[in-house]
Formats: sequence, structure tokens, C-alpha cells
Amino acid sequence: MFIIKKERNGKDYYYLRESIREDGKVKAKTIAYLGKTKKEAEKKAKEFKQKIEEGNMEEKTGKKTIENKKITIDELANFCKRKGFVYPTAEIYGGLAGFWDFGPIGSELKKNIKDAWWKYHVHSRDDIVGIDGAIITNPKVWETSGHVENFTDIAVVCKKCKNKFKVDESELKDAVCDKCGGELESKGKFVPMFTTQVGPIEEDSSMAYLRPETAQLIFTDFKLIQDNARLKLPFGIAQIGKSFRNEIAPRNFLFRSREFEQMEIEYFINPDKKEDCPKDAQIDNFELNIYSAEMQEKNQESEKMTIKKALNKKIIALPWHAYWLKTELSWFYELGANPENFRIRQHTKNEKSHYSTDTWDIEYKFPIGWKELQGIADRGTYDLNAHQEKSKKSMEIMDDASGKKILPMVVAEPSLGVERAFMVFMFDAYSTNEKEEVILKLNPKIAPIKAAIFPLVKKDKKLVEIAKDIYKNLRKEWNVLYDQSGSIGRRYARNDEIGTPFCITIDENSIKNKDATIRNRDNGEQKRIKISEIKDTLRKLISGEIEFKNIKN
Ligand code: GAP
Repeated sequence: MFIIKKERNGKDYYYLRESIREDGKVKAKTIAYLGKTKKEAEKKAKEFKQKIEEGNMEEKTGKKTIENKKITIDELANFCKRKGFVYPTAEIYGGLAGFWDFGPIGSELKKNIKDAWWKYHVHSRDDIVGIDGAIITNPKVWETSGHVENFTDIAVVCKKCKNKFKVDESELKDAVCDKCGGELESKGKFVPMFTTQVGPIEEDSSMAYLRPETAQLIFTDFKLIQDNARLKLPFGIAQIGKSFRNEIAPRNFLFRSREFEQMEIEYFINPDKKEDCPKDAQIDNFELNIYSAEMQEKNQESEKMTIKKALNKKIIALPWHAYWLKTELSWFYELGANPENFRIRQHTKNEKSHYSTDTWDIEYKFPIGWKELQGIADRGTYDLNAHQEKSKKSMEIMDDASGKKILPMVVAEPSLGVERAFMVFMFDAYSTNEKEEVILKLNPKIAPIKAAIFPLVKKDKKLVEIAKDIYKNLRKEWNVLYDQSGSIGRRYARNDEIGTPFCITIDENSIKNKDATIRNRDNGEQKRIKISEIKDTLRKLISGEIEFKNIKN
């Protein structure tokens, strides 16, 4: 590598160059612009060489310089606030426990997670359609669903440290404070549904609930949806939307909040065809880390096994349930989550919801331990049956295969909190390099900003013009960013921290060669590509059609 000085309009410009062999010929290639003075150039060249050497060392020794870093939930919350992902709501007034605001970067990530979920579960399948139900609905829905009667917690307060939390009724007499071991005082049954008033004049208005789950509108509208979308069993109905629960003790950042979003599916089948999971679903060899009710009762460890083995040993009762466990885990893995941090845990007899005959949770190894990420309940015919009885409107549909009218059953209800998924992707992406700089290795599909475009030097009008043209062209398709302030290293670092997978830099050579450098966030590798090919290359990189290493220089 060497420094060269070029003179333009009476001014000196320094560049770092290297000789490369291309098509059998030795050519000099510019690696970086180094500034306008020799001193500045020498300093920058030293820094660049050091960075490049670190990269080479990594390749030669196989030693990773960017490692996934384990951080606590509080550290994640601080990082999220600092970088514009999530803030405590209305913090200037002291916030409100259990409520959060998503900032410029976080709202993009959250939207991308929801879009990726919708694409995978609705748009990519023939058997699932989506709806968008109301947050406030007729209160009879919640009476019929059993929420008013059964969706209750026992609120307790520690007599010693005043810690407030909820306990299961069956465990009340044995429970002690989880913070200090103190004795608990029961504050009685508590329905965690928020209430509100519909209508402006109190006497004339009626009380209503904010929905505690999105699922119920799928059941109340079941007949209309099935008819409108001409759905044939087996089929699913999906929904993404806000849910509200007046949690006794919201805690652990987004993990337990009072306002959150759910992504839910009710998957309906003919109850006489429980065993008929499609053969082409290819579930047999998928590996699960299983923690069954029996393993928990016998104090055993979870065990890794294939779905085939779990079905043969009757650990998972229904192939359809196994199919949904695989489908949901695959969604996380395909978007970059680490399979080692996942397990599936079966609900024990005491903890099953009022509507469920069998429930498996997908759990994630949060810094606070293994915790529920997503519930996948077998709801049977509980809900359709209840709404049919209460409304006196038939919920039966014609099953073409048998020619009979039947009441379908929900074999699986995959129900996932958007905010818990948000935390999972953040934890698994959070990495640091040897300088302790954060590299947020989010999958490009969900990354808030897909690419950042820089002119190497902001004072060079031509470079700025080319960079802005590229930026305007790319933003027609993606959320991209233009940045010309600060050193190029600072600009890379700023984008690494918020998970921007690719940076595109326009330098002196771009004018002559009509090309630009594209940089990979995950290892700092850079390639030169033609400007005319940027959009197509980016599309392939984001979709995962090609890997960065396959880009031809
Ligand atoms: N319709 C079924 C249902 O709502 P759930 O287990 O009560 O089941 C499903 O909730 C998912 O919703 C949970 O696995 C979790 O991801 C999310 N969730 C539930 N309560 C939450 C809360 N207070 N804060 C954040 N997410 C929550």
C-alpha cells in the first residue's frame, strides 16, 4: 500500500492506493481518500492499514473479531434509548410504568418485524388470510370467551419489601416474595383488562374493555372471513395488533408491558382429521430442544430430539402441533436468531389457560433466564363453540371433503408478542468488535435502514451529486440514509451501531469508473461495484439471494 498525492485546481489531495493483479495485469487501486495535507494523510493511512491488518488477521487465524455480546435487559434498554429504538413513554413527565414509545430506528425495526411475519405467514401461503379487528369491541365477546371470569390474577404485596406481583391461585398459600423471601399479603382477584367508556355522557354510555388479545375477533368474524376468502379446511386467519393488559408488575423493559402488540394465527382443521398434517410439510428431521411437562415434573433437563422422535414417543401429541412449532422456530432462525437460545416447553396441568387442551411455549434464553416468547395453544373448539352458543349464530361450515357441516377446531394458535420478538432479534444481533464498538448484526430483511450512502468528501460537489442521486434512487424502494458528516470511519461506526447492513461510498474513482465501494457491516469487507448495478445487488443481498462474499469486484 502506498500514499499518492494528486493535484487538482492548484490543490493537493492525498489517497491511499494498493497494487492489485486483475486479469493478469498489475493495477493501482484507490482504497481511501486521506485528506489534503501530508501529515493528515500519514495519520489516516496508518489507521486504515491497522484496520485492514486486523481484517487479514481474522481471515488467517479464523479468530472472530466481532462477537455476539451478552448484555443485560437494562443494558439493552439503555442502548435502545441512546440510539433511538425505544424510550420510556413521555419521559419528560416521568413516564408511565409498562408503556413505551418507539423512536425513529425502533419504529422501523418493529415495522419490519411485523412485515416479515405477515409476508411469511400470510402472503407466502395459500391457506392463511389476515384481518385487522377493532381494539374495543362488544363486551359480550370477553364474557363469552371466558376472559371476564377466568383471565384473572391474584395480586399480592410483600409485607416486608412492598414488592407487588401476581401469583397463580393454586400457588398462593406456598408463595413467598421473589425478591426478599418475605410473607405475602393477598389483594384478591384482579381482572387485568383495561376498561373504558363508550359514549360521551357517562349515564348513557357503556363500559367496554381494551382487548387483552387479538384472537377473539377472528372467532366472532369467523363465518364472514371464511365465506369472503372462500377458505377450505385446513386454513388459518392471522392478525397483528395492539393488546392491553393491566399487568400488576410490568417489568424487564418490553418483556412485560401494559400495552403491546401481538401477531396471532388461529389455525382451523376438521376435528376428525387431527392426524392429517400434510406429508410434504417435511417436519420429521427438524430438531427441537424439548422440555415436556413430564420432564419438568421429574426435574429433568430439556432434551434435543427430532420431531419424528418426539411424535413417536408421544411427547408431542399431534403432528399439526409439531408442524406449527417448526414453522414458528424457522421464522426466527431465517431472520438471524440463534437456535441455541430457543427451546419448547409444554405447559403443566396447573398452568394451562382456560381454553387450552395442550400448550407449548417457544421459550428464549433471556438474560433473566428461559422465558415465554410465544405460546402455541391447541384451543380445540372452545371459542367457536362458546360464541355459537352465546350469539345463537351457527359457526359451522361445510367441509367439502366429507360433505358435512362441521365446527372446526383450532389445532394451534401461534401467538407472539412483537416486543418480545424485537428483544430476541436485538439480543442475538448485539455484537462488539475488539474496540468495544457495537455492531448490530440484524438480518438485512429487518434492519431499520438497508443502506447508507456517503460521498467520501463532502466538499467535492461531484461526489455529493453522485451520492445523492444514488440515495434518491434507492429510497424509492427502501429506507436508506444519506450521510456526509464526519470522517468515513465515524459514518461506518454510526451505521454499524444501528444495524445498517451495507454502506455505499462514492470516492474520486467513482467519477471516472462509474463505480462505488459497498461495505459489509458484519466484517468490514469492501467491494467495488458499478453504480448501475447497486440497486440490483442490494436487492439480492437484502433478500439473501446472494452473500456479500459472492459479489464480484
Ligand atoms: N391469544 C393467546 C394469548 O394471548 P398469551 O400467552 O397470553 O396468549 C401471547 O400471550 C404472547 O403475547 C406471549 O407469548 C407474549 O409474547 C405476548 N405477551 C403477553 N403478555 C405480554 C405483556 N404483558 N407484555 C409483552 N408481551 C406480552
